[in-house]
Amino acid sequence: MENPAKLSAELSGLFPPGVIAAELTVPAPRELLTAAELQFIAHCAEKRIQDFAAGRACAHRVLGELGLPDFSLLAGGHREPIWPPSVIGSITHTCGYGAAVVARQRDLRSVGLDCEVIDSVDEELWSRICTPAEIERLAQLPPARRGRQAALIFAAKEAFYKCQFPLTREWVGFEDVVIEPLEWPVTTGSLRIIPQKTLPLAAGVVAALVSRFQFRGPWVITAVTAPN
Ligand SMILES: CC(C)(COP(=O)(O)OP(=O)(O)OC[C@H]1O[C@@H](n2cnc3c(N)ncnc32)[C@H](O)[C@@H]1OP(=O)(O)O)[C@@H](O)C(=O)NCCC(=O)NCCS
Repeated sequence: MENPAKLSAELSGLFPPGVIAAELTVPAPRELLTAAELQFIAHCAEKRIQDFAAGRACAHRVLGELGLPDFSLLAGGHREPIWPPSVIGSITHTCGYGAAVVARQRDLRSVGLDCEVIDSVDEELWSRICTPAEIERLAQLPPARRGRQAALIFAAKEAFYKCQFPLTREWVGFEDVVIEPLEWPVTTGSLRIIPQKTLPLAAGVVAALVSRFQFRGPWVITAVTAPN
């Protein structure tokens, strides 16, 4: 059965060299899951199985580029994907979009990828996902520009969470991270990610934390890298 996930230079371009990316905008048949993945997810609701299959289809595509097309990508107790030895990666799936990235551990310490539907991050969510300073910055914008920036903050924090978890195994809340734009409102480039709590991350990693991003159609896609 054909895997609809396609390699994406646009997406890998949000990461340093060495990262391989694949994405899809159509449903992935569950038949693409390995037997172990199917068994892992079989007890879940249909929507969850579809999301899982979308992420795994992209993961199989990028793992194929590393010579591991049939690897069963299961998950740990915190939902974190258990990548093959010496491989790091990240997965996202949201309405109509799924993507995965991988790299060799010798090139990068960790990566995080997230995608959010811009319109889904409305003002009621702000107090849950933003610090007071971030809310103040959003409130300064004309109302029509706020949604995109709020979605960007949300997606950058979630990408950071996925990047840091394999390294720290720690819970990090939305209030524990500040997103500092280099321009405001943000249109291109990168955002600084500044953890507000002490995490077991090398000082060099914390100093280098940035999120690169892309607004694409209804989505914002964010990428965070922890370098070696
Ligand atoms: C885990 C979380 C980040 C997932 O993000 P999401 O927008 O809900 O969903 P996405 O589709 O983008 O990503 C889901 C994928 O993330 C990955 N993921 C989930 N938990 C993870 C973890 N602990 N570490 C690394 N990756 C993880 C999985 O691959 C998952 O897909 P799968 O279950 O099909 O394999 C989110 O549910 C969450 O718990 N957020 C709270 C913590 C947080 O973001 N803090 C922000 C400040 S750092």
